[in-house]
Amino acid sequence: MVLFRMNMIWRNYVCHLRQGKVPHRCQSGAHPVAPLGSRILTDPAKVFEHNMWDHMQWSQEEEAAARKKVEENSTTRVAPEEQVDQNAKEKVEESSWDQIRIIFSRMQGTETHCGKSCVSSAPGNKGRPNFPNPDLEEHSDDGPGKTGRFPGSNATFRILEVGCGAGNSVFPILNTLQNFPGSFLYCCDFASEAVQLVKSHASYTEARCSAFVHDVCDDGLAYPFPDGVLDAILLVFVLSSVHPGRMQAVVHRLSRLLKPGGMLLFRDHGRYDNAQLRFKKGRCLSENFYVRGDGTRAYFFTKGEVHRMFCEAGLHEKQNLVDHRLQVNRKKQVVMHRVWVQGKFQKPLHWTQRG
Ligand SMILES: C[S@@+](CC[C@H](N)C(=O)[O-])C[C@H]1O[C@@H](n2cnc3c(N)ncnc32)[C@H](O)[C@@H]1O
Repeated sequence: MVLFRMNMIWRNYVCHLRQGKVPHRCQSGAHPVAPLGSRILTDPAKVFEHNMWDHMQWSQEEEAAARKKVEENSTTRVAPEEQVDQNAKEKVEESSWDQIRIIFSRMQGTETHCGKSCVSSAPGNKGRPNFPNPDLEEHSDDGPGKTGRFPGSNATFRILEVGCGAGNSVFPILNTLQNFPGSFLYCCDFASEAVQLVKSHASYTEARCSAFVHDVCDDGLAYPFPDGVLDAILLVFVLSSVHPGRMQAVVHRLSRLLKPGGMLLFRDHGRYDNAQLRFKKGRCLSENFYVRGDGTRAYFFTKGEVHRMFCEAGLHEKQNLVDHRLQVNRKKQVVMHRVWVQGKFQKPLHWTQRG
């Protein structure tokens, strides 16, 4: 039953991606939908008849050309003194969330005549809007004990979405979970504005959901629930923004949160995705790791790296595939190879903590 629920949520989630219902930088927008994975390009002359083709095979020439582009755009790297992690995080919060901040300040009625939201002059606020942030207080101690009460403690099926953003998948998931009494969804993001936005959505209810501010890279931060209580974790397009040197620790920490038998569902950028090839010189931080113009970062994974990382955390691989698609811009008559890595990793009944 638990496995059925997880598969249903994952299938629905991936379908939302495919339908463009979950807007994402790597999605092409709203398209008519064919069942996932079923649109195969057999006649190259028909390439411009659809926006997306599944299971594209790369020719050796195409792969060699992609490798060459990556070699070229990796030659000039961002200088080490400009690669300060914390700065990047601040920059992300202050750039990517600008739109959200404006929408939110409108909802709060804090927008000023100049269109900018009111900000606190408190030291350390760094110009962020002065939203009360109860999340930080709620779980700033060691977290709830295993036997204590915590949000979702009465639930029989618990999911965590890491890096939920403004909730593009939170609400479709909550919708699916409606059919499963006893389900509870946690979602977190390190951007407090995003979490506030999720919480202010009309469909948000504390009876079935708990959104909280959390940086998965911060080992010292407790979660608002004990270890070993989650049936599933969604880690979708988040790990790629973490520094490669910190990824393993993040995966270890998340693995601790799972119940024995619980599943971690992963999807992220794959090596030689068009997004990687399009980086200009001077954007590369380290091998296959880049910084975008808005300060957000992106790593491009291989299937082998994903396998090693999750298995190193003691999880068992149930699925690990490279999703190769051809994205078509029919108007401009251009095609782009898209590459994503997708996996399901299960915590064994007898899990040995390694991290
Ligand atoms: C590309 S978005 C993906 C959003 C969502 N998972 C989806 O697939 O639609 C990445 C999200 O991860 C969040 N994020 C990045 N690094 C994080 C970290 N260290 N801890 C928590 N959230 C993080 C960002 O703020 C952003 O909302």
